[in-house]
Amino acid sequence: MENYRLFLSAFCAAAITGSLSIIFVLIWVLHYREGLAWDGGSAEFNWHPVLMVAGLIFLQGTAIIIFRLPWTWACNKQVMKWIHACLHLLAFTLTVISTVAVFDFHNTAKIPNMYSLHSWLGIAAVILYCLQIVVGVVLYLIPITPVSWRAAFMPVHVFFGTLLFVGIISVALMGITEKLIFALKSPKYSQSPPEALFVNVLGVLLVAFGAIVVYTVTRVSWKRPNDQVLHSLHTDEVGEDNGKVGPALTQLPETADAEASDVRKRSSKQDENN
Ligand code: HEM
Ligand code: HEM
Repeated sequence: MENYRLFLSAFCAAAITGSLSIIFVLIWVLHYREGLAWDGGSAEFNWHPVLMVAGLIFLQGTAIIIFRLPWTWACNKQVMKWIHACLHLLAFTLTVISTVAVFDFHNTAKIPNMYSLHSWLGIAAVILYCLQIVVGVVLYLIPITPVSWRAAFMPVHVFFGTLLFVGIISVALMGITEKLIFALKSPKYSQSPPEALFVNVLGVLLVAFGAIVVYTVTRVSWKRPNDQVLHSLHTDEVGEDNGKVGPALTQLPETADAEASDVRKRSSKQDENN
C-alpha cells in the first residue's frame, strides 16, 4: 500500500475521533442531561443524539472505510460486501429507533413534528439512506444483477454514499446547536457554560471524524487492489474465489508490492466494477 504510515495515522485518528464522539455524547446525556429511558420524556429524547452518533455517523463511517483496510484485502470480496451491507443495516436500525424516540418525545410533550430545517434535512437523509441500502443490496448483494449494471452504478453509489455521510454530519451539527439553544437557559448558550463548551467539542470531533473518513475513501491509491490481479500475482491463475489469495499487499515482499501497486493503478477501473 502506498504511504502505509499515513494510512495508519488516518485510521488511528478515525478510530480515536469516532470513539471519542460516542463517549462525549454519552457523557452529555448521562452527566449533563436527564440520562436515558423510554418514558416519553427528555430521557427518551436523549436516545436520539446517542443512536444517531453511534449508528448513522460512527457505524456508517466504519462501513464506508471497510474496503480500504489492507488487513481485509486477503478476504473474499463477497464477505467484505456482506460486512459493508450489515454495518449499514445495523446503522439504519439504530437510526429508526432514534427517530421513533424523538417523534414519541414530541408527541408526548405535544411539540409539533417536522417544523425545523434540521428535521427536514434529517428525515430526507434517513429516507435516502434507506434507498441507498435497498439499491446497494439489489445491485451488489443479489447475484442476478448484470455485471454491466453494477459497473455503471458504482460511481453513483460511491458519490451518493459519500454525499450522504457528509450531509448527515451537517444535520447532526444543526441538531446539536438547536438542542443547546433550547436546553441551556440559565446560564444561556451564549454565556458558554461548561456543557456548551463540552458539546461544542463533540461537534468538532464529528467534523474531524467525517473529514478523515472522506479523505481515506477518496484516495485512489488506498483502494482495495483488484482481486483477480492480486490472485494472479500469487497463483498465476485467475479465479473467482479470492478467499484463497495469500497475504495482503502489506505482507508481500517489496518487489511484489511495487508490482501489485503498478498493476493496481492500471486496473483501478476494473476494480471499481466488482
Ligand atoms: C429532531 C433527524 C441528529 C437534535 C429530529 C427530527 C428528525 C431528526 C427527523 C424530527 C423529529 C420530529 O419532528 O418529531 C436527525 C438525523 C440526525 C440527527 C438524521 C443525524 C445525525 C441529531 C443530533 C442532535 C439532534 C446529534 C443533538 C441533540 C434534535 C432535536 C430535535 C430533533 C433537538 C427536535 C427539534 C426538531 O424537530 O428540530 N432529528 N437528527 N439531532 N433532533 Fe435530530
Ligand atoms: C463501496 C457507501 C450500502 C456495496 C462504497 C463506498 C461508499 C459506500 C462511500 C466507497 C468505498 C471505497 O471506495 O472504498 C454506501 C452507503 C450505503 C451502502 C452510504 C448505505 C446507505 C451498500 C450495500 C451494498 C454495497 C447495501 C451491498 C453489498 C458496495 C460495494 C462497494 C461499495 C460492492 C465497492 C467497494 C470497492 O470495490 O471498492 N459504498 N454503501 N453498499 N459499496 Fe456501498
